[in-house]
Amino acid sequence: MHPTHPQQLGGAAAAAADVAAAGAGEGTRLDPWFGAYAQRAHGMRASEIRALFSVANRPEVVSLAGGMPFIQGLPLEVIGESMKRLIMTKGATALQYGSGQGDVELRERILEVCALEGITNAHPDDVVVTTGSQQALDLVTRIFVDPGDVVLAEAPSYVGALGVFRSYEAEVEHVPMDAHGLVPEALEAALVEARRAGKKVKFLYTIPNYHNPAGVTLTLERRHQVLEICQRFGVLIVEDNPYGLLGFDREPLPAMRAFDDEGVLYLGSFSKTFAPGYRVGWVIAPHAVREKLVLASESSILSPSNASQMAITTYLDTCDWKGQIKSYRELYRERRDATIGALAEYLPSATWNVPDGGFYVWVKLPEGLDSRSMLPRAVTERVAYVPGTAFFYDGQGADHMRLSFCYPTPERIREGVRRLANVVNAESELVQLFGTSAQLDDDPRDAEYPAPNLA
Ligand SMILES: Cc1ncc(COP(=O)(O)O)c(C=O)c1O
Repeated sequence: MHPTHPQQLGGAAAAAADVAAAGAGEGTRLDPWFGAYAQRAHGMRASEIRALFSVANRPEVVSLAGGMPFIQGLPLEVIGESMKRLIMTKGATALQYGSGQGDVELRERILEVCALEGITNAHPDDVVVTTGSQQALDLVTRIFVDPGDVVLAEAPSYVGALGVFRSYEAEVEHVPMDAHGLVPEALEAALVEARRAGKKVKFLYTIPNYHNPAGVTLTLERRHQVLEICQRFGVLIVEDNPYGLLGFDREPLPAMRAFDDEGVLYLGSFSKTFAPGYRVGWVIAPHAVREKLVLASESSILSPSNASQMAITTYLDTCDWKGQIKSYRELYRERRDATIGALAEYLPSATWNVPDGGFYVWVKLPEGLDSRSMLPRAVTERVAYVPGTAFFYDGQGADHMRLSFCYPTPERIREGVRRLANVVNAESELVQLFGTSAQLDDDPRDAEYPAPNLA
């Protein structure tokens, strides 16, 4: 039986009810500066969904929501010792301001990492170090997008990128994917349609490997097709690739940047293959673009953290980083298997893909269910996920949810999916009785600002 009144709910559930009752928009009425904000800040609201996630981080909740790497899998003592040595021996540089473009030693190491994905046609001068690839997304959008410009993105797409595009008032048009990634014919059709409608398409934003949230990978053949289409239409490709080295069963496919050094901006990150806490990512860009990216970055952060960059260079120089990636791959593969096994056992009424790398499974719910309105009930049952609506610009996606398998242990994953199945079954009964699930009050598009640990 499901409790129905907040007083009946324990711990996480009662807090979830409080948060939902508080309503995300109410804070604005208490804000004396409400009338002073820039127009673009008015859309920046935490949604009810986001408020619920603050509850989801409690230990009694199994969170299948966040894309947090399993940092406990790192040799923390070894890393701690080397950071100590770094500050003792090179502290005067590590704790000082640095170059806006990023430390040259790290930029050289970054190209060694990129060579694993076939990028051997880049020079350290082409690399801009950023504060995570999230800042790279912000910089790229800042220098290319005027309000009303079109950005093409897969359907669905990374919630954090959609938030950036929205903050620069881009119009996002989604391009369908299938099991082999972005569909080239659909991309071409979208470009033809934009041209016909007189719209300016500024770039295609794509996540070719182990997509967030869809879990799929763009085939090699399609990579060439996508490159050819974008070249023909004169449209830049922003290739966002934080997961490419985290394949479970095979070596990485070559990045699109490996085939085109003029038409592709390549975004990389150490967040998923090492640790997000350093906040180090990068862009590889053609010369003129790189210059603007550096100026834009300096105007927002002056320089990326020297301490973080040097810590990463030290890690790459002194630790078996390839061995660490291999051990992450094995760990995540086991968790992927636990997720797929539990879904098959507990939730056969849903459908899902089986990702061969990365962190995410994209689940389609049984007919009539709404993942967004179901979330408060799930949190009450002590399990969390991200509703599919977060990954679309226009409120689609309520029939899907994203499950992340990167952080919880296999046992916790099984328990989480079991709880989720209870919620889905109860919700299905409600839908059968009443024909629809309850709706949340706020706009599904408010989900655009994810808490950092949910990205
Ligand atoms: C597709 C994608 N791009 C970019 C990011 C941002 O990562 P970071 O800023 O930690 O490098 C994430 C994080 O989840 C992601 O999934």
